[in-house]
Amino acid sequence: MTKEKIVYICQSCGAEFPRWTGKCNYCEQWNTITEERVVPTSQNKRNYDLDMKESKPLPITDIEEEEFERIKTSISEFDRIIGGGIVKGSVILIGGEPGIGKSTLLHQVLFNLASANSKCLYVTGEESRAQIKMRGDRLSALDKNLLVITETNVDIIIKAMKELKPDIVVIDSIQTVYKQEIPSSPGSVSQVRENAFYLSFLAKNLGISMFFIGHITKDGTVAGPKVLEHIVDTVLYFEGEAHHSFRILRVVKNRFGSTNEIGIFEMTGTGLKEVQNPSQMLLKERTEDSSGTIVVPSIEGSRPLLIEVQSLTSYNGGFGAGRRTTSGVDHRRVGLLIAVLEKKLGLNLYDHDVYVNVAGGLSIDEPAIDLGIALSILSSFRNKPIDISLVAAGEIGLTGEVRAVTQMEKRISEASRLGFKKAIISKNNISDSLNRFNIEILPVKNVQEAVEIIM
Ligand code: TYD
Ligand code: MG
Repeated sequence: MTKEKIVYICQSCGAEFPRWTGKCNYCEQWNTITEERVVPTSQNKRNYDLDMKESKPLPITDIEEEEFERIKTSISEFDRIIGGGIVKGSVILIGGEPGIGKSTLLHQVLFNLASANSKCLYVTGEESRAQIKMRGDRLSALDKNLLVITETNVDIIIKAMKELKPDIVVIDSIQTVYKQEIPSSPGSVSQVRENAFYLSFLAKNLGISMFFIGHITKDGTVAGPKVLEHIVDTVLYFEGEAHHSFRILRVVKNRFGSTNEIGIFEMTGTGLKEVQNPSQMLLKERTEDSSGTIVVPSIEGSRPLLIEVQSLTSYNGGFGAGRRTTSGVDHRRVGLLIAVLEKKLGLNLYDHDVYVNVAGGLSIDEPAIDLGIALSILSSFRNKPIDISLVAAGEIGLTGEVRAVTQMEKRISEASRLGFKKAIISKNNISDSLNRFNIEILPVKNVQEAVEIIM
């Protein structure tokens, strides 16, 4: 008879502890440790119906290079960000908050592949077959090559995969899948880790490309552990705000392509549509003659994106230190930029609340946005609008110097394409290649010089 024992497992990183504690010593998260029942390893004779192939060591010089076979989904934003299509036999995790559109996206992906004659299997533990059918109707995405199974037992899923030999499988979601012999409940670390591991193993062996849909915890990471991210080849996050129709698909890890790429979609009444001209879309709602706003030519992955940075400063009535509230930019970075403005320009912001926001729900964490943040704060503080045809890109150092940023040509090219007329950049970013764009380059040494231009 198998004897279960109780261990305490961190739901974030998967570390095990003999007793409960409030904080995980490994990943330093609070309140992530929960009780799980496991079977000690010596009695753990789980059998999965897998054929293990033996692997022999081979000199690295004898290994043949192989081109990865990629399957195109015809959703060009999707294909582009994952490196040119889905790699055969690869495993992709897609995480995102409930209701953001993960199931919708993968339904559309599977439908495209199915209508191009790939055999597709949609495994769902979240919705009924009828619900999937309804979604298919709404998306006009019904094809007989797209098979649907409602199942959460991993052994039955594996059996179905072996019988059917599909080209693509979607598991919606990995947190609902369970293995009977594992005593802890579905969604717990032990369940998620084992099932994800065996399903990926099977996918690699059978040359099936597999998607795991993963739930997201309050703090924005995939629930049921970091370990999941280590098992898979590619990790995508689907982001966006419930009240906006824009959705951003971000590549966080990719063994078959570059990371930090983003694809932009819009949720419509008939499913997700690719946004062909995201810069234009992001600037659509810009208003003229308002203070506190400026456009920054930012780079996301390999693509330039014009984003609007907005700031608002407001006197807090002298009640202690002003609050700083940000969305889409790093809180500490804003604090630092305010300190530079106070020191170098003599601004008194200590008794002002300062709000900084990236319009459209995007998050930007590249330093090129510094100059835009600083200028927009100043513009709001002085209540003086910045020329609407102007963009700014540069990193700001602690002495107020404006530093060069990467890929300036791409940034300027995008700004000029959308009709901007002037660009403030670091003087160290000047090069002849910028002259061919129909845009006036305004080089600056430090933040004071940039301020003189806009005020
Ligand atoms: P869904 O893909 O079910 O989200 P997830 O799997 O990430 O939980 O999408 C949920 C939302 O999207 C739902 O609130 C309805 C909306 N939606 C549309 O606006 N248009 C559509 O065509 C579809 C299918 C869904
Ligand atoms: Mg769903």
